[in-house]
Amino acid sequence: MSSYDVIIIGSGPGGYVSAIRCAQLGLKTACVEGRETLGGTCLNVGCIPSKALLHATHMLHEAEHNFADMGLKGKSPSVDWNQMQAYKQGTIDTNTKGIEFLFKKNKIDWIKGWATIPEAGKVKVGDDIHEAKNIIIATGSEPASLAGVEVDEKVVVTSTGVLSLNKVPKKMVVIGAGVIGLEIGSVYARLGTEVTVVEYLDAITPGMDGDVQKNFMRILKKQGINFIMGAAVQSTDASKTKAKVTYKLRKDDSEHTLDADVVLVATGRKPFHDGLGIDGLGVEMTKRGQIAVNDHWETSVKGIYAIGDVIEGPMLAHKAEDEGMAVAEVVAGKHGHVNYGVIPGVIYTHPEVANVGATEEQLKEAGRAYKVGKFSFMGNARAKAVHAGEGFVKILADKETDRILGAHIIGPAAGDLIHEVCVAMEFGASAEDLAMTCHAHPTFSEAVREAALACGDGAIHM
Ligand code: NAI
Repeated sequence: MSSYDVIIIGSGPGGYVSAIRCAQLGLKTACVEGRETLGGTCLNVGCIPSKALLHATHMLHEAEHNFADMGLKGKSPSVDWNQMQAYKQGTIDTNTKGIEFLFKKNKIDWIKGWATIPEAGKVKVGDDIHEAKNIIIATGSEPASLAGVEVDEKVVVTSTGVLSLNKVPKKMVVIGAGVIGLEIGSVYARLGTEVTVVEYLDAITPGMDGDVQKNFMRILKKQGINFIMGAAVQSTDASKTKAKVTYKLRKDDSEHTLDADVVLVATGRKPFHDGLGIDGLGVEMTKRGQIAVNDHWETSVKGIYAIGDVIEGPMLAHKAEDEGMAVAEVVAGKHGHVNYGVIPGVIYTHPEVANVGATEEQLKEAGRAYKVGKFSFMGNARAKAVHAGEGFVKILADKETDRILGAHIIGPAAGDLIHEVCVAMEFGASAEDLAMTCHAHPTFSEAVREAALACGDGAIHM
């Protein structure tokens, strides 16, 4: 039996970041992970592999659509799916090995296997029981199931199976127009798959600013993705190579079917805590099946903490990372803090979509007086030079104080641009603060400044 100051269960972005911070703070740390490699869903079957496929297929799109215009003549590249898969795997391997290196560097023990918690202060892996003054649960989430839909990870797949299909399908039905459905739908649409997204609601990307939802959908349609909105999928009927998807339109209850070679179920994820044995310990849960925690990420059982997708809040790797660092501070007797009001969200399609803070709809509902500064990438010289003039930056600021309340971006590098606004919001900045900051020319970030200028006397290039 070995004993530790802290044992973290799960090595995804929440768990591994927490382990590194615990070790940096001088705590004797171990991390339990049952997968063959570290990094959790994000590195192995989520964020990282999907970004490799998004990048590769974006390059294909550029070659097919924009090369000739720039004087780059010749045949567009053909797709070698096996090599693209190998490239994706290489990306996963370098990242997961990188975490292994960081564990060694920080003297973190990787306990291989699946953990259970027989009692507070003890973690069991296989036949071994390890002692821990503190336990941090960072076990993440798994795809939610959908009634009437049976996943086989070959024809009816989740976000895991869809990354490793044995060939590029001719027809794909995506259930759910959330982040996963649209990112993966983009990958396959660029590879020539006929993609149809079936969405229950009347707008894509639930919870996003309405302006972004409308424009984003228009852009995706132009890229060839089909949408069936207001449609609830009832069931799938799959053979070894094909599937039939049955859905009902909400407006008239009429029933319809679609044929597909592959069906992607992307209707959300649910917290994963199976097999941990926390029920027997009296760990309180929320109504939605998440582990309930207090302001210090401690569960109802003293010495057991939880972070990331397994607790409340957006299921985002960077939210888990922030909680991972903060809970490490708490365990080390310091003050950990996460500002939940400034957590950006990014969709890695092309153009990218990014947001932080309040949407216009939320401000209206709260009865808050606000102003809108909006700037189109068509007015941004750099964007036009690289065939990326689609989209806009929209900044929402308090009508009286000019304090930035939210930002919504569709456009080139939106996922990077958003952080300028995040920093500004952390400092309680006004739109004028951004507008008065010199931005290098020609950069995409000038569009952020122009939107900030539009909150005041007006943008220059509009
Ligand atoms: P989601 O919650 O974002 O979207 C699911 C969609 O499915 C919703 O629009 C919902 O209305 C629809 N839906 C549900 N039942 C349906 C039915 N029977 N028929 C038709 N439509 C139905 O879930 P998603 O895309 O699966 O993502 C899961 C989580 O993973 C999210 O929290 C997301 O933020 C996170 N994620 C984040 C990424 C990023 O930050 N880039 C990338 C991938 C996932």
